[in-house]
Amino acid sequence: MQKINIIDAARHVEEEVEIGAWLTNKRSSGKIAFLQLRDGSAFFQGVVVKAKVGEEVFELAKELKQEAAIKVVGIIHEDKRSHFGYEIEVTKIIEIGSSDEYPITPKEHGTDFLMDHRHLYLRHQKPFAIMKIRNELIRATYEFFNKEGFTKLDAPILTGSAPEGTTELFETDYFGQSAYLSQTGQLYAEAGAMAYGKVFTFGPTFRAEKSKTRRHLTEFWMIEPEMAWTTQEESLVIQEKYIAFLVQNVIDHNAYELKLLDRDIDILRKYTQLPFPRLSYDDAVTLLKDNGFDVEWGVDFGSPEETFLANHFEKPVFIINFPKAIKAFYMKRHPSRDDVVVSADLLAPEGYGEIIGGSERDTDYEYLKERIEEQGLSLAEYQWYLDLRQYGSVPHSGFGLGLERAVTWITGTEHIREAIPFPRTLNRLRP
Ligand code: 4AD
Ligand code: MG
Repeated sequence: MQKINIIDAARHVEEEVEIGAWLTNKRSSGKIAFLQLRDGSAFFQGVVVKAKVGEEVFELAKELKQEAAIKVVGIIHEDKRSHFGYEIEVTKIIEIGSSDEYPITPKEHGTDFLMDHRHLYLRHQKPFAIMKIRNELIRATYEFFNKEGFTKLDAPILTGSAPEGTTELFETDYFGQSAYLSQTGQLYAEAGAMAYGKVFTFGPTFRAEKSKTRRHLTEFWMIEPEMAWTTQEESLVIQEKYIAFLVQNVIDHNAYELKLLDRDIDILRKYTQLPFPRLSYDDAVTLLKDNGFDVEWGVDFGSPEETFLANHFEKPVFIINFPKAIKAFYMKRHPSRDDVVVSADLLAPEGYGEIIGGSERDTDYEYLKERIEEQGLSLAEYQWYLDLRQYGSVPHSGFGLGLERAVTWITGTEHIREAIPFPRTLNRLRP
């Protein structure tokens, strides 16, 4: 007999198979029991008919508790009424791991309770669907950048520098000296781009964010491509192509998960249509003012402003050329203006805000040295970075996609804590 996963049921209709599963819920009468099963690949129903399986198997089925682990033998049938389309007519059950008083009962639970039990909650339908889509985004990311000729470069997590500002640093002791958990792999990616042309990093990054919002984690995963001989214009084309590729792959490979989440595929399809609009920061401020927002040139946009801008276009939108004063030191100066940099933030519609931040990088040794000093950063820590400008410096650009922001947006999830297996936020370090 063949051991299968639930997700492959369609290929085994009217065959007898074995499945290793857990019981998520159950309903029974005197003659028939409906077992809701999951095996990590999908969720479906097992039907146990007393008249067919006999007293013993039927009694076992009735006594199983939520999250009991069982080996189920049975025959796969099509079942047009179910969300999944197939079910198993159970002939045999072996209990492998019992379960008692599983805390996440089928009733409604509050967010704190679910997050305190995240190690168990991961088993349930919503986290299941989100994590499968997260996995698809990671898979598609590797496919995209490999196809485009990028080399994956692993940046260190323990670093001596603070390129994205010194206020949001996690500091730790490194054999008597200070080390910081990496805020970004970018500076290392720049070294990589000068060595291998086009690279991308993908790893955890850390920001001691004191803000409690739907969009901030203190530990999040970032994909940071960096490209030598590439202007910001060329970088924007790669960025939108990458985002459209991610969304298209989720549409193509995660129909089941999107259905579990009730995510409208027609909305997602709009996000695969290129190009994405580009709007200068100047024009964004004007547009916001015209629509009643109280914003002044020079401020960073908050969540209401970002939401308005992306919804206005019903597509992700690039806001380009931000004020220099609110952006990182490495961003390239605008060729004809001193107050803005050659940067872009990509804002996602439906209220999800910034999903990508990126820029062309300044190539001038003296200018960068000045900016580093101006920001109160230690020159000694950045000497290696300045070396990149001393030995064969070329125009280059890059960007960072926050994986959890992308997951939250594409899955249509309310809060970013749902987009990572074990979220770290201001108030949460466990489990
Ligand atoms: O805009 P940020 O700070 O840019 C950088 O770190 C650059 N070094 C990227 C680069 O050019 N290589 O962060 C990039 C992205 C944001 O657009 C957002 O999606 C995500 O990282 N991000 C966060 N995600 C979750 N929680 C947080 N606290 C985040 N901070 C940034
Ligand atoms: Mg940013």
